[in-house]
Amino acid sequence: MKRRHFLKAAAISPLAGCSVVSPEVLGKPLGYIAPSDKVNLACVGIGNRGGSITMDLHKTGLANLVAFCDVDMGAPHTQKVLEQFPDVPRFQDFREMFDKMGDQIDAVSVGTPDFSHFPITMLAMSLGKHVYVEKPMARTFNEVELMIQAAAKYKVATQMGNQGHSEANYFQFKAWKEAGIIKDVTAVSAHMNNKRRWHP
Ligand SMILES: NC(=O)c1ccc[n+]([C@@H]2O[C@H](COP(=O)([O-])OP(=O)(O)OC[C@H]3O[C@@H](n4cnc5c(N)ncnc54)[C@H](O)[C@@H]3O)[C@@H](O)[C@H]2O)c1
Repeated sequence: MKRRHFLKAAAISPLAGCSVVSPEVLGKPLGYIAPSDKVNLACVGIGNRGGSITMDLHKTGLANLVAFCDVDMGAPHTQKVLEQFPDVPRFQDFREMFDKMGDQIDAVSVGTPDFSHFPITMLAMSLGKHVYVEKPMARTFNEVELMIQAAAKYKVATQMGNQGHSEANYFQFKAWKEAGIIKDVTAVSAHMNNKRRWHP
């Protein structure tokens, strides 16, 4: 039984209170998560948007970065991630990465160009890996249908990377709605108070 599964089982057992030792007792700060309890994450696409995802998932403190894959490994746009994590094993082909390290990977982030989302995500799910894949999820409705079916078949957790759904703004409005602070919403107006590079 994997340690992570054991801990989950222990937490819901009636003996949970007796079997779990608080991090503080072990001299660790409250909120400390042992590396063995984090998700072992492989990042496919580590430059540009893929690089931002890699950094953001690292910042959650919930992931061990165990493998990087990028067709342009070492190119200028991959340097930021490579400099921060020099010891993470590197691959240029996701198939080789799964062949060599599949048994050490729990989940995969896919921050590569659109056309490659389907093959990378399908292979990852077929190996039982959880997936975060950038938007657009795939190129065609048929690809999307097949991905949805595969997620159900392999019982993996999945998310399409839409910042509107994965960042704090979404959870703020969800919390307000659940708390009854806002109700019966019929329209939403969005305003922007700053320039962005594509609309000065
Ligand atoms: N959620 C958002 O706000 C947001 C923003 C920008 C882009 N995106 C999406 O993110 C994805 C990536 O966009 P981008 O502009 O960063 O693309 P990009 O072309 O810069 O590629 C991202 C990285 O993937 C690498 N790569 C390309 N093909 C690969 C492959 N087959 N295997 C491994 N690595 C590969 C590239 O070298 C690069 O480092 C796109 O699907 C895009 O639509 C989402």
